[in-house]
Amino acid sequence: MQSRNDNATSETSLLLADDAGLAKAAELLRSGGLVAFPTETVYGLGADARQSEAVASIYAAKGRPSFNPLIVHVADLAAAEALVTFTPQAYRLAQAFWPGALTLVLPLRTGAGVSSLVTAGLDTLAVRVPDHPTAQAVLSAFGGPVAAPSANPSGRISPTTAGHVMAGLAGRIDAIVDGGSCAVGVESTIVDVTGDPVLLRAGGVPQDALEAALGAALKRPQATAQPTSPGQLASHYAPLGAVRLNATTSQPGETLLGFGAVKGDLTLSAAGDLREAASRLFDCLHQLDAMGAQSIAVAPIPDQGLGAAINDRLRRAAAPRD
Ligand code: TXA
Ligand code: MG
Repeated sequence: MQSRNDNATSETSLLLADDAGLAKAAELLRSGGLVAFPTETVYGLGADARQSEAVASIYAAKGRPSFNPLIVHVADLAAAEALVTFTPQAYRLAQAFWPGALTLVLPLRTGAGVSSLVTAGLDTLAVRVPDHPTAQAVLSAFGGPVAAPSANPSGRISPTTAGHVMAGLAGRIDAIVDGGSCAVGVESTIVDVTGDPVLLRAGGVPQDALEAALGAALKRPQATAQPTSPGQLASHYAPLGAVRLNATTSQPGETLLGFGAVKGDLTLSAAGDLREAASRLFDCLHQLDAMGAQSIAVAPIPDQGLGAAINDRLRRAAAPRD
C-alpha cells in the first residue's frame, strides 16, 4: 500500500457494486486499503477495524484529529455482539432500528480485536448495522468489522454520492464503490447505551421514534471538557461560503437555500418535506461550493423529527471557523 499521508499521488478506482467490484473492495480492505462505500445515511470511508495501520490511514486521508473515534460497521446484530456488550435498552433499539441509521455506543468487549485507534483509546465502541444493500454486500464480501467515518476531508461537507467522495478524496484512498445517492442523507443518530440512554448526535432516526421504542426519554449529554461526539465540534460540515441561518429572503450577494414557502436559488424541499430536505442537504451544500457561493442564506427548517438533525448540521455549517 502506498502512503496516503501526502498529497494526491495514487489513483482512486471507481468500482461498480457488482460481483467483481465487491470482490475487489473486499480484497483491498483485507490488504489494509481504504475503500469508500455508500450507506443509507452518507458514504463511509472504510478500513479493516482490526488493522491499526489501515485505521491510521483513514485519519491521514481525512486529515482528522486522532482523538475523534470511529464507527464500526457490521453485517448484523450477532456480529455486533462479538464486539460490544449489549444492555437491555441497546437490544430494544437494535431490534427496532437495525439495519438502519442508528449507531449504538456500548462497552467494548475485551478481546474484540478492534484497533485502539478506532476507539481513540475509549473503553466503549460505536457500532452500526447499515441498511444499504451495497454496504451490506461490502460487509459480507469482506466478512469482518469495517471502521468508517464519513468519506469527506475532516470538517467538510459529508458525501452523499460517489462523485462527492471523488471530489474530496481522489488520490488519497484506494477505491470508491459507487452505489448511487444516499436515501437518508444525514448521518446516523448516535445513542450511548452504556447506561441510561443518552442522545450524542441527532441523525437519521428521529428522537421521538427512539423514545417511543425505549418507552423513556433520552438524556442529553452532560457538558464535559472532552468532546465525546462530533456534536461538540463547533465548525463541521462546512461549505466554503459563510452561512446565515433562518433567512426568509436573501440579502445582496447571498445565495438562498430554500425550504417550503421560502423559494431559494436552490431548494432543500419545495414541498417542505423534511425527509426530502435531509436527503438533499449535503448535495445542496456541495452544489453551493461548486457554484462558488461566498455568502449562503438558509431558510428556516422546522425543528421536529429529521429537522433536528438538519438544523444540527446547519448550525455547524454556520459556526465560526478557525
Ligand atoms: O451515518 C453515519 O454515522 C456515517 C456512516 C458512514 O456510517 N458515519 C459517520 O461517522 O458519520 P463519523 O466518524 O463522521 O462520525 C462518528 C462519530 C465520531 O465523530 C465520534 O465523535 C462518535 O461517532 N463516536 C465514535 N465512537 C464513539 C464512542 N465510543 N463514544 C462516543 N462517540 C463516539
Ligand atoms: Mg463526519
